[in-house]
Amino acid sequence: MKKNGKNGNSGNTVTGSLENLSREELIALVKDLSQRRKFGLVWEDKPEEVAELCEEKLPVLKEVVERHIPRKGLGVRDEGRGTRGEKQGGMPPCQKTHPSSLPPHPSLLPDDGSNLPTHLIIEGDNYHSLSVLNYTHPGKVDVIYIDPPYNTGAKDWMYNNDYVEKDDAYRHSKWLSFMEKRLVLAKNLLKETGFLICTIDANELCTLGLLLNDIFGENNRLGIVTVLHNPKGRNFTRWFSANSEYMLVYAKNANNAAFNEIAIDEDIKASFDLTEIDGRKYRLEPFMRSRTETLRENKPKFWYPIYVSDDLLEITRRKKSGFHEVYPIASTGKEATWINLPETFDEKVLLGWFVAKRENGKIQIYRKLYEQQILKNVWTDKKYQSEFNGTNLLKEIIGNNDFPYPKSLYAVLDILKITCPRPCLKSLGQGVVSQPSVILDFFAGSGTTGHAVLELNASDGGHRQFILCTNNENGIAENVTYPRIKKVIEGYADKEGIPAEVRYFQTEFVEKDKEEGVTDAVRYEMVDRSTDMLKIRENTFTLVERKVNPRRRQFEIYTNVARTKYTAVIYDTSAIEAAKSKIAAVVNGLPVAIYIFTLGDDSYDGDFDAPNWRVEPLPERILQVYRRLFRGK
Ligand SMILES: C[S@@+](CC[C@H](N)C(=O)[O-])C[C@H]1O[C@@H](n2cnc3c(N)ncnc32)[C@H](O)[C@@H]1O
Repeated sequence: MKKNGKNGNSGNTVTGSLENLSREELIALVKDLSQRRKFGLVWEDKPEEVAELCEEKLPVLKEVVERHIPRKGLGVRDEGRGTRGEKQGGMPPCQKTHPSSLPPHPSLLPDDGSNLPTHLIIEGDNYHSLSVLNYTHPGKVDVIYIDPPYNTGAKDWMYNNDYVEKDDAYRHSKWLSFMEKRLVLAKNLLKETGFLICTIDANELCTLGLLLNDIFGENNRLGIVTVLHNPKGRNFTRWFSANSEYMLVYAKNANNAAFNEIAIDEDIKASFDLTEIDGRKYRLEPFMRSRTETLRENKPKFWYPIYVSDDLLEITRRKKSGFHEVYPIASTGKEATWINLPETFDEKVLLGWFVAKRENGKIQIYRKLYEQQILKNVWTDKKYQSEFNGTNLLKEIIGNNDFPYPKSLYAVLDILKITCPRPCLKSLGQGVVSQPSVILDFFAGSGTTGHAVLELNASDGGHRQFILCTNNENGIAENVTYPRIKKVIEGYADKEGIPAEVRYFQTEFVEKDKEEGVTDAVRYEMVDRSTDMLKIRENTFTLVERKVNPRRRQFEIYTNVARTKYTAVIYDTSAIEAAKSKIAAVVNGLPVAIYIFTLGDDSYDGDFDAPNWRVEPLPERILQVYRRLFRGK
């Protein structure tokens, strides 16, 4: 990628007279030219007002408390855990070799609320929201799903408050400048195991591909999925009538990332009709192979006895008294073979992957096949059509379709099913993964991604948190995103609600001093106005203690839903001792993050050395992040 300077000139001019350049300038020019890529993306970096604003003002967040949606009940639907009310399959047949000490699936446990997420909607330009998230969520996001403006030239997108028209000579440069800034900020938020999914149509497919290759690395591009979102296509087009669009899927680091083994095709999914106690779906397949090429005479190593207890619960290769000896003998009487070599069988039997059944007086061995599907990169299922599961669905939920082109709920749901961590065993022996995961959409529009996360949580008892960022262009945040999410939580038409908590924030700014930048007064104001950011960072929103004196706030203490952790903010250093004893009394040994005002970068390490106490100076740590993002300004 090569991006030219703000005026459209590269740093060194080749067009100027070379004779007039000094030796140093010539060396710099040769270096610059030799470092330029031979292949890639070139555009002119077009200055953007919202980004330049951050040279004068520092973004913070402010909660709109009237828009808080509190949780009613816990996160799993009463009638079963299915998205559309499907019941869970019955308990699977158990075998003694199955590790009986496995903890139950988290959604089956009485939930104390400690892992229940508080979902966030952030209204404002996403350049500012992403800047704030660089402080609150660096390396904490599992999946980013975005559906940016496609830059069609049909008044679908504004740059510096002007619609970018089709004949704008800088149309692509403006879009690339806009996207690059945001994608770079967004990448910082991803976990090493995380994914970014970006939808696009043909207008910017090629430029976006090169841009993402540059930011994420071509090696981390996992695929481009074509989605048939509008089979009818559009009338009156001169050439092709586009009826599909694309999802570009990247890993932050393909070596660390993994797709979930899951079936998204309904027919394939239905064939996995049994459910483990930890929630994984599976089906049974015969463990014997009896085609000619797999007979004993051709594969002698795959012929061995398996011993099964009379109650069929214990299966082993060790000969045990009273156990039935089972060989792979086909119904024709021919000596066949087992699917696995003896050593592989020994590994799998420990994981509980075999089931024995008595059929027609004989014992048959089956192996479990867990839910998975070969994922194709062309998605044509009807459920992905945006007219039915986007536009019409939105109308059903909020009563109007003022918002153009929402995505099909199922297109988002399915890519999240593949990429989001699941609240069950990754593999046996690794323990239950019930950590809350985070899904971010910073072009949230009508909130389809938030809706999909709620559905996904309802279907498997997961604790995924969504963060939706959107501007309020044409009132979208307040008239579409927020009402949609509220309705999905509270129920709409004949759909039962999905219990969840949401908090709504707006971006605001702390103005720097025009002459001196970040003065002491700016630091004071920053601390006063960053409490909501700290609550988000720590996921502790409930106030338990506040001390004020007539002059200023002294300290506040917040906790999470389950009161298992705390955040203390000390605004006034003269109140440190009082704050310390109050914190000790309130937290009672539980973890606490203590944010303490300082004009410098004093870490206060020695002052707060109790176990489970973490101390961070404010506002310096926020300023450090902003200095890095806004190039030290
Ligand atoms: C294509 S739509 C996303 C639609 C969404 N996927 C859905 O299913 O509803 C893009 C959205 O991004 C929002 N947007 C555009 N530029 C933005 C910016 N700089 N900051 C925040 N939101 C922005 C627009 O208001 C628009 O709602």
